[in-house]
Amino acid sequence: MTPKVSSSKIHSRIVGTGAYLPERIMTNADLEKIVETTDAWITERTGIRERRIAADDEFTSDMGAKAAQQALTMAGVTADEVDLIIVSTFTPDTIFPSTACRIQHAIGAKKAGAFDLQAACSGFLYSLVVADQFLISGLYRNILVIGSEKISSVLNWNDRNTCVLFGDGAGAVLLQATEQGRGLIVSDLRSDGGETEMLTIPASGCRMPVTQQILDQKSNCLFMAGKEVFKKAVTAMGGSMGHCLKSSGIDSQEIKWVVPHQANLRIIDALVQRLDLPREQVYVNLDRFGNMSAACIPVALHELNVSGKLERGDLILMTAFGGGLTWASAILEW
Ligand code: COA
Repeated sequence: MTPKVSSSKIHSRIVGTGAYLPERIMTNADLEKIVETTDAWITERTGIRERRIAADDEFTSDMGAKAAQQALTMAGVTADEVDLIIVSTFTPDTIFPSTACRIQHAIGAKKAGAFDLQAACSGFLYSLVVADQFLISGLYRNILVIGSEKISSVLNWNDRNTCVLFGDGAGAVLLQATEQGRGLIVSDLRSDGGETEMLTIPASGCRMPVTQQILDQKSNCLFMAGKEVFKKAVTAMGGSMGHCLKSSGIDSQEIKWVVPHQANLRIIDALVQRLDLPREQVYVNLDRFGNMSAACIPVALHELNVSGKLERGDLILMTAFGGGLTWASAILEW
């Protein structure tokens, strides 16, 4: 399926952003005390220097609610005016009810529908596209799209291949229907369920319920075949971004900011080379936060927004890749 270029008169526009990063900072030096690794290895192989770790009593919904509240305040929209809440996470507070329902209650969005959307690290872009459809159809006016993750809760802290890569955090945007601008101009959602084992939490679903043996083997923790994921991520995100540019007729030089998934600086550098993107316009915060999965892109958008680096009319190219496998890209006009 080729990327979808919007032809609607009504568009969606981000009118508020928010982010929440837990207080506790875990540096690479801290990790040297937990697993056999070095600051030099992590920095050179990934670009990550530190990440945030949520407190024991701080959950995905708590972080998501704080980010969402900030987005509402910035937009000048009350919780009562929110029509729908979509939360992207693979670390929900509970398998059910949804984390979105907990956030709905926490922020007091009494008239909103709420659901979780599961597309792992691509979840925020998937959610953005779903929200956009509700807005351009005229059904809803205000939708909160949230990416929130407590990945520290599903890491095997004995596995140096994975535990150094991830961090906790949340980002949110308030998406509003408008007739101004061009909104979400083009999007491309993709998947490959033939590669589920490459990046997964094998146990704790119905396929492998939790037993003592599962806990002992740490099969309830995140597993990743890093090298394979790396190669696939570059090919998939590169191809998807290329499709979005081509089908929308937008030149890469017209893009003001590229906001890629923040998994590994070497992946981002490979994408920059592949698509001949202007490096100084590629937003990177993985050095400070590591890979926060679905929270990466909304946190980056919030940072760009509050630092005054975005103006109405700017074109933003976003791309993500994650478990599923899933990947996605989109271009929106700010
Ligand atoms: N510290 C020190 N050494 C480590 C290490 C760590 N934290 N993690 C792995 N190593 C070792 C490996 O054991 C291996 O040792 P060996 O050669 O003796 O077996 C060596 O470093 C090289 O490992 P390799 O897996 O080849 O490293 P890499 O250069 O491919 O980098 C990743 C590993 C995980 C950083 C990289 O593959 C990656 O970023 N993958 C994709 C991540 C991603 O995109 N994830 C999320 C998508 S949402």
